[in-house]
Amino acid sequence: MAETKSERSLAMDLVRATEAGALGAGRFMGRGDKEGGDQAAVDGMRYMLNRIKMTGVVVIGEGEKDEAPMLFNGEVLGTGGHPELDIAVDPIDGTRPLAEGRPNSIATLSIAPRGTMYDPGPFVYMHKIAVGPLCKGVVDIEKPVIDNLKAIAIQVDKKVEDLTVVILDRERHLDLIAEIRACGSRIRLIHDGDVAGALMTTQPESGIDVLLGIGGTPEGVLAACALRAVGGEIQGKLYARNDDELQRGNEMGYDFDKILTMDDLVSSNDVIFAATGITDGEFLRGVQYFGDGAHTESFVARGKTGTIRQIQATHSLDKIRMINSNEEN
Ligand code: FBP
Repeated sequence: MAETKSERSLAMDLVRATEAGALGAGRFMGRGDKEGGDQAAVDGMRYMLNRIKMTGVVVIGEGEKDEAPMLFNGEVLGTGGHPELDIAVDPIDGTRPLAEGRPNSIATLSIAPRGTMYDPGPFVYMHKIAVGPLCKGVVDIEKPVIDNLKAIAIQVDKKVEDLTVVILDRERHLDLIAEIRACGSRIRLIHDGDVAGALMTTQPESGIDVLLGIGGTPEGVLAACALRAVGGEIQGKLYARNDDELQRGNEMGYDFDKILTMDDLVSSNDVIFAATGITDGEFLRGVQYFGDGAHTESFVARGKTGTIRQIQATHSLDKIRMINSNEEN
């Protein structure tokens, strides 16, 4: 079916929203104010999202884990009417790196047709394995690490010892790290930001072959949207932090043993994923401010067409003021 002009322009609309989030949040780099940065990103994104011709329902928002300012689950965004969409949003993936002035903080957003994104309820963590397009279909989150690494090594034509695994630097990963070391593969520890970590697997120049470990569920769904759009695969499995959480999940009908496939996490190919760099990272450059404005670097991918765009933008100071004050103009 031929797509409409407004469908095509949705990709740019999403970039405007991630740019707005990044432009607001970038001012908070290294200022030690996580809440301030988050609030600025949320305000900028909400402002732009509410100007898009759509009825978008936030399925994946944030805040439950750390009570941060949020685009809340169930919030309806846009000017109304068609298309009807699910929205997954993490205004800042990497709130702490932004506050501490570290790399790899990005503003991320994804849309897909209404009812196609996974709703993880109140459960904040999941196990993840994510790979790029060459390794789609060869990994299995239930298998031992060595089996997955061997399967990946064949696909990317490297030895297991030449593979690099990206993993969040967390105490909960000590056993997993030991297991990877026993296999002989190299490890890249990241402080934060496993959406960017999952995306790195799609870029051969990043040198990253696979993401492993436990990270946020919102970020898991966003990574699934990103990999649907760009190519690649993520599998997940909900992770309960304690018996109470497990019991609560079971009562609510969540199965912590179920493998969440790409189809479970986002069941449509008609997905658009956008991200804008806030602080410099290997995936995207951060916001650069200058006298009359700022530069941003963004990325937008459409699953329907497979088009991936890198967008460099120069914004005028007036626009930044408007975003910061949320004024109409
Ligand atoms: P936020 O900046 O959105 O809070 O997320 C950062 C992040 O590193 C995610 O990329 C990751 O999935 C999650 O936090 C891991 O959670 P935790 O920091 O609790 O281990």
